[in-house]
Amino acid sequence: MKNFLLAPSILSADFARLGEETSNVLLAGGDIIHFDVMDNHYVPNLTMGPMVLKSLRKYNITAPIEVHLMVKPVDNLIPYFAKAGASFISFHPEATEHIDKTINLIKNNGCKAGLVFNPSTPLNYLDYVMDKLDLILLMSVNPGMGGQKFITSTLSKIREVRQKIDNSIHNILLEVDGGININNIADIALSGANIFVIGSGIFSYKNYKEAITNIRHVLEKVHHVFVN
Ligand code: DX5
Ligand code: ZN
Repeated sequence: MKNFLLAPSILSADFARLGEETSNVLLAGGDIIHFDVMDNHYVPNLTMGPMVLKSLRKYNITAPIEVHLMVKPVDNLIPYFAKAGASFISFHPEATEHIDKTINLIKNNGCKAGLVFNPSTPLNYLDYVMDKLDLILLMSVNPGMGGQKFITSTLSKIREVRQKIDNSIHNILLEVDGGININNIADIALSGANIFVIGSGIFSYKNYKEAITNIRHVLEKVHHVFVN
């Protein structure tokens, strides 16, 4: 059932064993690795840079890696992450001066481009860039750390973006990030998301395979609602 993709966020992994943890979560059934970059400026926390991404590629992680940039400014870092092996690069529109230019920079560096919306960021940033985007990422928590509570008003925002995508001719992925777990993922999927970032909802369990399998069972039920 590949309509729904799971993107484990390695922010919640054990950083001392990052290669092993990343490999394990992929073997357990993760589809895309979500790589959170925080700069102690756009958000208070400080996490990983391009060298860490490069090390994961060197460790033989071949799955798509989505770099979620929570940094300001954005542009300087794009070539470094592209060179290090990013598949997708996503950024927050309020963190860059020229959104269209930043999207072009990501594409010209050979990556897919994503635009990220904080819970209170308005969707009008989408108005003139839908034709260039590969991914729209809706934050369902305020960015900065894992393990926060899902903000429920995100559900109506997901429906709104789903409408926008379906009314367009563009094939854009719709991803949600923050506070997703086995209890709320069905509502998020039913609202129209197709990629789910999950950090603590996977890594807080001992057995990643069991955690992912349980989540997939829920998604399978939602899939049946859609096809029947
Ligand atoms: C938050 C990050 C998320 C985070 C999600 O700023 O962007 O990707 O890792 O973690 P959980 O799933 O624990 O909310
Ligand atoms: Zn993230």
